[in-house]
Amino acid sequence: MLGTLFGIGVGPGDPELLTLKAVRVLKEVAHVFAAASSKNDYSLAQAIVQEHLPAGVPVDQLAFPMTFNSESLEHAWTANCEKVVEILEEGKNVAFLTLGDPLTFSTFIYLMRKVRKRLPDLTVTTVPGVTSYQAAAACANQPLAEGEETITVLSAAKGGERLKDVIAVSDNVILMKTYKQFPRILAQIDEAGLQDSCCFISRCGLKGQIVERDFQRMTAMKQPHYLSLMIIKKRGMES
Ligand SMILES: C[S@@+](CC[C@H](N)C(=O)[O-])C[C@H]1O[C@@H](n2cnc3c(N)ncnc32)[C@H](O)[C@@H]1O
Repeated sequence: MLGTLFGIGVGPGDPELLTLKAVRVLKEVAHVFAAASSKNDYSLAQAIVQEHLPAGVPVDQLAFPMTFNSESLEHAWTANCEKVVEILEEGKNVAFLTLGDPLTFSTFIYLMRKVRKRLPDLTVTTVPGVTSYQAAAACANQPLAEGEETITVLSAAKGGERLKDVIAVSDNVILMKTYKQFPRILAQIDEAGLQDSCCFISRCGLKGQIVERDFQRMTAMKQPHYLSLMIIKKRGMES
């Protein structure tokens, strides 16, 4: 008998945004895995759920490189997958913790695919989490969509070049991963004439939270924190 793999969304930072279901499932698993950056072994996802983890349940961090290099990603994920498979084959239920929602730009997606390839009969249960952009919209009191409006969620990890095409057809846009290519992203926003229609939110619900609506002040920022995103509203921001 294989154990069940639970993908648990822990929300974007504020521990009060954990769902009741996430807390319940955490008390019922035999082993917990958490994603951590390969540069340091701190896992924010683990810190968010720390007080709900039963004593004695092992917690292992799975390091993954922050790179677009498909070879090193493949290597890291194969190693991570085997660690999870080993526990599932012992018949133990496993939780994989992930920031925000597990099926939204999450490492859980890759892990689930890989583990399923190895164990085709595996039961996977995904516990949804509050996404970063939902929490960010709440902390800035910015509606994400209303009436007949559309909303598009886009990764800006490579510079946000798709913004131009997307904003032509979408009333509201979320730019995720606005940390590395920030100047290029701001240039896209400037070119599209959206300077007064964007809001930058960083470390939402965490120490050092920033909510910035002023485009000039955004341009003065150095490289923002990894946990940063932008909300763009074609009709303009809520004051
Ligand atoms: C790998 S994605 C994870 C997305 C996550 N699964 C979700 O549902 O929101 C990482 C990106 O999520 C966003 N993010 C996550 N937590 C955040 C937070 N507390 N404040 C602002 N942005 C956050 C940032 O854009 C960050 O670069």
